[in-house]
Amino acid sequence: MNSVTSQITKVLHTSIRKVTQIENINPELEKPADSDHGDYSSNCAMVLFKQLPTELKDRFRNPRQLAEEIVSELHQQISESIVKEVSVAGPGFINFRLSDAALLSYLQQVVGQDWSALKVTSPEESTAIVEYSSPNIAKPFTVGHLRSTIIGDAVANLLQAAGWQVFRDNHLGDWGTQFGKQIYAYLNIPLDPSGQRSNEDILNSSSAPVKELVQLYVEFHKQAETHPEIEEEARSWFKRLEDGDQEARRIWQKCVDWSLKEFQRIYQRLGVHFTENDGRGYGESFFEDKMAPVIAELKEKKLLQESEGAQLVFLEEEHLPPLMVIKKDGATLYATRDLATDKFRKENVSRYGKHPVVINEVGAEQSEYFQQLFAVEYKLGWYKPGQRVHVKHGLYRFQDRKMSTRKGNTIWLEDVLDEAVKRADGSEEIGIGALKWNDLKRSAHLDIIFNWDEILAMDGNSGPYMQYAYARCLSIFRKAEQGVEQAVAQSFPAAANPERQLLRKLTQYPEVIQRAAQEYAPHHICTYLFSLAQEFNSFYHQAPILKAESEPLRQLRLQLTQAVGNTIQHGLQILGIQTLDRM
Ligand code: ARG
Repeated sequence: MNSVTSQITKVLHTSIRKVTQIENINPELEKPADSDHGDYSSNCAMVLFKQLPTELKDRFRNPRQLAEEIVSELHQQISESIVKEVSVAGPGFINFRLSDAALLSYLQQVVGQDWSALKVTSPEESTAIVEYSSPNIAKPFTVGHLRSTIIGDAVANLLQAAGWQVFRDNHLGDWGTQFGKQIYAYLNIPLDPSGQRSNEDILNSSSAPVKELVQLYVEFHKQAETHPEIEEEARSWFKRLEDGDQEARRIWQKCVDWSLKEFQRIYQRLGVHFTENDGRGYGESFFEDKMAPVIAELKEKKLLQESEGAQLVFLEEEHLPPLMVIKKDGATLYATRDLATDKFRKENVSRYGKHPVVINEVGAEQSEYFQQLFAVEYKLGWYKPGQRVHVKHGLYRFQDRKMSTRKGNTIWLEDVLDEAVKRADGSEEIGIGALKWNDLKRSAHLDIIFNWDEILAMDGNSGPYMQYAYARCLSIFRKAEQGVEQAVAQSFPAAANPERQLLRKLTQYPEVIQRAAQEYAPHHICTYLFSLAQEFNSFYHQAPILKAESEPLRQLRLQLTQAVGNTIQHGLQILGIQTLDRM
């Protein structure tokens, strides 16, 4: 279904073409704050008049006259079921007033939880693989991974709400030379110096095994400073792992399982799940044996060049540094596995269709890398521009210090989650919801200065504020002695002006979803929901709901309250934030 805006824009376009014979115009619609100026308004006549050839300028004389002509054409074109009135105002504004029936029919839909107006596309037309979270095995789940998890999940939910078919993948960092070190350390460095408990014992029973694995890794590097020969042993362990040596595989698999157990707990708390590879996601290791064909294809398409023994794809035309796919010692890289991943995705037509959009939610620090990766994939002809998307997030800054896990000052993610819940008086829904809203309320690429007071503020642009706005809608119902009628009236009762205004705001929700989906930008939902909650707040103070002057007005206000509550809940659900019936 088309949104009201797109329907109006379309007829406006046709009318302008008929009146002026001008083709390439893009009329824009505004939503005037004051509904006296209509529900939508366009300044296209004024913009257009300036560009008219002289003979047309002479014919129309002024922008207002041009607007009048467009409007009389619009009257022929536009459906009365949508627009009640089109008029010219001032120097040539064209104002549209929506029909009451169109507004009320939207209200009816939302009261009945019918969200079909949000679907701009169908699953057959649009498929997306959204890849997010992607933490590294045997390393801490960082706040960067938290951001990726929250934002990526919201993008996936958003596309689904807009009608896409969505696959959720987790590109776990479960391969690389570091596993050689990990295996060496696991076998040679005791976690319990007294030697009473084996490393395996300790890791099996640990509630946070990643902490122990990280400890082994740190210990390895400490020892390597004085005993550099263990680096060589680590390399040979990685070689054994690559060659499929059983012992190496067994220990690697254990590291994966221990880490996943811990990550799974985080996903559970966040209410996040993946759909690929039985819900685990396709980690880097899955592509171990799928890189050779990529190299072969790159060679065949003459995209590989040797430089100092390494194999690279040069990207001079794209003004990007070359992308290395094979190191001079013959080893593959992160990029080689990413290429294999995206080849696998595009070839898996029976699952992902012919033209999936592949979205990677990864920190902005990898921006240039993803530009290189996409450029290579376009050169290979695997994807077309627009089909590869990097949704990037900025950093969390804790009191001005860049969060870093490299240099020991690790911030453990579960500690952050626990702290949020503690500060929300033990409520998991409020604490986690607050963190999520804080992550999603501004454009993802921006950095966030982490501030608990802002995150949990009851009276600002926060998760708890939105949850409270929702709970208050429900509390109004609880107080209404007679319930709300599910059937919405066909016309507005007399004096229903603030009601019409609020409903106008509600009808913008599908457009917000469409824009957010188009831009892969869930923060538009936050901006909208917050302003909806504020508008409902002033409505509530201005128009008594339970003590309305008449029964039809009382019903309408209750229905609007329900529609506001349903919309907030629906939007929060997309953002992955739970609602509470009481707060
Ligand atoms: N594991 C990587 C990291 O922690 C992120 C992976 C992102 N996804 C990808 N396809 N490269 O930095």
